[in-house]
Amino acid sequence: MVQSCANVASVRATKRIAVIPGDGIGKEVIPQAVKVMEAAGAAVECTSFDWGADRYLADKVTVPPDGFTTLAWDYDAILVGAFGDPRVPSNVHAKEILLGMRCQMDLYANVRPARLLDASLCPLKGIEPKDLDFVVIRENTEGVYGDLGGVFKQGTPDEVAIQEDINTRKGVERIVRYAFEYCASNKKLDGSPRRRVLMCDKSNAMTHAGGLWQRVFKEVAVDHPHIETQHMYVDALAMQMVRDPRGFDVIVTNNMFGDIITDLAAGLQGGLGMAASGNLRPGKTSMFEPVHGSAPPIAGKNIANPFGAILTAALMLAHLGMVGEAHKIEAAVLEAVREKKTTADIGGTLGTREAGEWVADRVANGLKPRKFKAYVGDPDFHDGVIERVRQQATEVSVEISGYSGARYIVRFTGVESVISHNPEGMVLYAMGEAEAELPLRHFYFANWREPDEDGGDSKLVIDARAFSVEKA
Ligand code: NAD
Ligand code: IPM
Ligand code: MN
Repeated sequence: MVQSCANVASVRATKRIAVIPGDGIGKEVIPQAVKVMEAAGAAVECTSFDWGADRYLADKVTVPPDGFTTLAWDYDAILVGAFGDPRVPSNVHAKEILLGMRCQMDLYANVRPARLLDASLCPLKGIEPKDLDFVVIRENTEGVYGDLGGVFKQGTPDEVAIQEDINTRKGVERIVRYAFEYCASNKKLDGSPRRRVLMCDKSNAMTHAGGLWQRVFKEVAVDHPHIETQHMYVDALAMQMVRDPRGFDVIVTNNMFGDIITDLAAGLQGGLGMAASGNLRPGKTSMFEPVHGSAPPIAGKNIANPFGAILTAALMLAHLGMVGEAHKIEAAVLEAVREKKTTADIGGTLGTREAGEWVADRVANGLKPRKFKAYVGDPDFHDGVIERVRQQATEVSVEISGYSGARYIVRFTGVESVISHNPEGMVLYAMGEAEAELPLRHFYFANWREPDEDGGDSKLVIDARAFSVEKA
């Protein structure tokens, strides 16, 4: 009796993950994501499912009986690769498995963060990580994805094809609410609050559906007076994402526009190999998958980028409450990108497995020292005052008082060098110093500009292994 109680307790502490690698590169990138989660010491127990093209071709089963019920009842989250195989031209298995999970498990919020880890990954000129940190909240159960409609007089010159676009008030309202709530409760990576929800539609041409989205958006906005609202037609949004993505914060849109603009957003982050996503239903078993597909032409060659899948695993761990493990994984991927320990699509020379192993090794054995730089005088950052810089052997503490009056101590450990530091009382424009929630994900003193560009002598450059922030 006692023993079974202990077992129950330990089962609850460990999160059960259903892993469905699927087809093509899904079968290569997902094992890397699992390896990295294990290296991070995440309390997960993974069970593999063989759903996908091979299984379908072998026994015509896409989703076994009770498949979705099993996922919903027996698992805390689902990690998916991708579905799509040239041997199944109808794509029926992808429709039944992937769209089936989204619709039948009612995973109505597809959350797709667009974050630039390193400036070198962005094809746009002059865009830095702080410039690109927005989230697309895609409606995930309606729109054209219900595949309602039909074909009339097929094969004749009078053929008619009708594809319906379903937009229900319930469906639109819950995704718009989700976007506002996401905006209110999720900060940017630099610690600054999110402020604006942009609704994207095509209401100038699709007036019936667009009209509903417009009305609901305005109604829900009334409940969130502190959040700015904005609207763009999807064509103009696509142009602006490429011209200047800096103003975007939270974007809410329908299923198909969300699909399209998140591939565009992936392009801004370094390509499809870098983009992560979650298919969420608050309080229920949710599903996580990289944004990319099965990429048949590159499948089986050990060249697919595993980072989108690895970052997806981090997103899943954070969702399950394992925030520390998630941050460790994200930091290791960032380091891999900076050190070019990557696959060829983002400039490295490693294979899928080797890039995954590099990240797993970093996660397991600790990150290399990172440079923290502080320069004075960059108006892009929140202002704060450095009160004191103290060094004790391999530890440096920087005391800061932010513009809000809050005071913080940033403690760098494993310090290898302090090139120069600010005299007491000098003004430092530091990102994130006013942040109250601890631990911070990232703390930058600097905007990565070179000292001679800005700041001159008043720079603070610290090489350290890690840092922590506490309220003074
Ligand atoms: P895709 O995302 O598979 O590939 C698009 C392009 O991006 C290709 O050039 C591919 O080589 C590249 N790419 C994608 N992921 C990459 C990675 N991790 N590393 C390096 N390069 C990467 O999209 P597609 O070609 O339009 O579709 C292929 C198949 O995947 C289709 O059957 C499609 O329906 C399916 N698909 C499935 C999902 C999913 O299951 N979530 C998503 C998108 C597409
Ligand atoms: C995605 C994919 C899917 C979609 C396909 C495979 C049906 O492109 O997850 O982005 O359109 O949602
Ligand atoms: Mn897509």
